[in-house]
Amino acid sequence: MKLSDDIERVLISAEELEQINGELAQQLSNDYKDKNPIFVCVLKGAVLFLTDLVRKMDSPVEIEFMDVSSYGDGMESSGDVKILKDLDVSVAGRDVVFIEDIVDTGQTLKYLIELFKTRKAKSVKICTLLDKKENRVANINSDYVGTTVPNEFVVGYGLDFAEKYRNLPYIGVLKPEVYEN
Ligand code: IMP
Repeated sequence: MKLSDDIERVLISAEELEQINGELAQQLSNDYKDKNPIFVCVLKGAVLFLTDLVRKMDSPVEIEFMDVSSYGDGMESSGDVKILKDLDVSVAGRDVVFIEDIVDTGQTLKYLIELFKTRKAKSVKICTLLDKKENRVANINSDYVGTTVPNEFVVGYGLDFAEKYRNLPYIGVLKPEVYEN
């Protein structure tokens, strides 16, 4: 099968993603040039974004991974966040930037930010590629946002539906028949 056959329309092209990443990388390089921050990538959706983003930065960053789950295989956030894989390092006294693919209800990040405050991080900021503002439940604001997206389920460039479509090079909207089946 061809993944692209399931896409109704492209929302953000590969070229646009490249440009967005360049702008975010520049801002982050400026803001963190002497801070050696820890970029915490939330698996798995943000992996493609992280790897493209850091390659465009010319300041030191450390990279760590966390895996959390609040969705299962469905399309609705449950708000019940579980840590599936925790960090291997201490964040006490460190500047942390969460690297996210998309902030939807915001419940995942709210949970993580509170957790990292109890772990005594020096600062905790959010960098998200996509912001689905209309669906926000938790009161959080991202510090670095690539672009906003409408309240539709999007896939590609790391984002999945039931573990599929992550390897599309662009962000697109699925044809309704794909998730209705
Ligand atoms: P939140 O806790 O509702 O903000 O959920 C954030 C997480 O839900 C993201 O990191 C994604 O993994 C997932 N998610 C939210 N919206 C979408 C979407 O449109 N497509 C794919 N995954 C999504």
